Amino acid sequence: MSNQNNQILKNTNAQILDEFNASIMFDKELYSQDIKGSIAHSQMLCEQGVLTFDEQKLIEDGLLQVKDEIESGKFEFSLAYEDIHMAVENRLTEIIGEPGKRLHTARSRNDQVATDFRLYVQEKSLSIKDLLKQLVDTFVNVASKHTETLIPGMTHLQHAQPLNFGYHLLAYANMFKRDLQRFESSYERNNYSPLGSAALAGTPHNIDRQSTSDKLGFTAPTAHAMDTVSDRDFALEILFNIATSMMHISRISEELVTWSSYEFQFIRMSDEYATTSSIMPQKKNPDVPELLRGKTGRVYGNLISLLTVMKGLPLAYNKDTQEDKEGVFDSVKTIEISLKILNEVIKTMIVNVDKMENACKIGHLSATDLADFLVQKQNMPFRTAYYITKDVVEKANSLNKDISELTVEEIRESNDEIKDIDEEIVMYLDLRNSMNARTSLGGTSTIQTQKQIENFKQWLEEK
Ligand code: ARG
Repeated sequence: MSNQNNQILKNTNAQILDEFNASIMFDKELYSQDIKGSIAHSQMLCEQGVLTFDEQKLIEDGLLQVKDEIESGKFEFSLAYEDIHMAVENRLTEIIGEPGKRLHTARSRNDQVATDFRLYVQEKSLSIKDLLKQLVDTFVNVASKHTETLIPGMTHLQHAQPLNFGYHLLAYANMFKRDLQRFESSYERNNYSPLGSAALAGTPHNIDRQSTSDKLGFTAPTAHAMDTVSDRDFALEILFNIATSMMHISRISEELVTWSSYEFQFIRMSDEYATTSSIMPQKKNPDVPELLRGKTGRVYGNLISLLTVMKGLPLAYNKDTQEDKEGVFDSVKTIEISLKILNEVIKTMIVNVDKMENACKIGHLSATDLADFLVQKQNMPFRTAYYITKDVVEKANSLNKDISELTVEEIRESNDEIKDIDEEIVMYLDLRNSMNARTSLGGTSTIQTQKQIENFKQWLEEK
């Protein structure tokens, strides 16, 4: 091989290696956290007499200039500097000269990246929490308009008992409330500052970790340097929290797809959130909830991917951990847009009350109420009442009626043991009465649902 060819091959290899090794093309997302962390670090070094006042001032002003350059698109991101940390430090030194080289005193990229990434995760936990709060608020508002709208409650996707639609929606308000609380508790648990852990074992410099922790809004410094630089539990937690929240988003999306189908027609999605087919001119497709459901997969993938990266790592820092970021960035972006979109879909959906209520007349939804009546009024053992009710259901089927439409005579004719049943049973089998009979705590009756709505409103106010 000629010398020239040899050189080209070497250059090509170097280029491939840089591309493989570098994280700059994705960790530039962390520029603002990196600069914030560096400013806090420099201020602490100055307080401790490691940097002079003048040096610190130059560093801080220089870092703010780098930030400006990045935000105005002037900053050149190059593979020559492996990651955002090196790129910022290098540019700082270009701007201010020798003092720039003092910034990294008592710091390693290992604690630096752990700090930047944790700051990012903490900031995002708060903004996702806000979006979840808005979503809960929307579910509660729509629910409050439908506490008397009947909808068939299902188990096994088969008609079971009548509910009100508000109650059904409140189930999702509860899910998203738990999600919000999960982000909140992760935030508390992880709000500790890695900065000052250095490479893995701390530093001989006279640093003040409490000072940087305070400046960055953390509760306190972490307790163990080696654990800190190799720990990515905070990233796993946000990935899990996002995955769980996406799972809830996916479940309501599945219902939206079903409810808007021709067979159900319970809701119509606002035209803004439905799309047309390129071939079938009559179609209106629920692409948005389908995409919300579909995007859940990648978010699960990101969680499994980082769990897998972490499982075999010896202490302390290993380059494998560089693989922690892209999945988190992707999951964060996915949940943010998903929560915003779902919020709008729920706000703007058109509820077809008649279709929901008519659907309740199929499937003998109040059958359990007959059995409950026999237990309560005639002191009958539940299992006996259950079999008698089956006979009444059969009778209704033979008459092509729903159990809620039977006359007292028809009920009496169904089984000898109830040939004298009080005529008030007819009221008990009425679908709305059946829904309203479920007054137990957490039950579906309109009164219970309204109480639950009040509790939610109070909770939202205090949030
Ligand atoms: N680029 C690395 C990351 O994203 C941070 C630097 C630590 N690297 C190192 N070789 N000590 O995790």
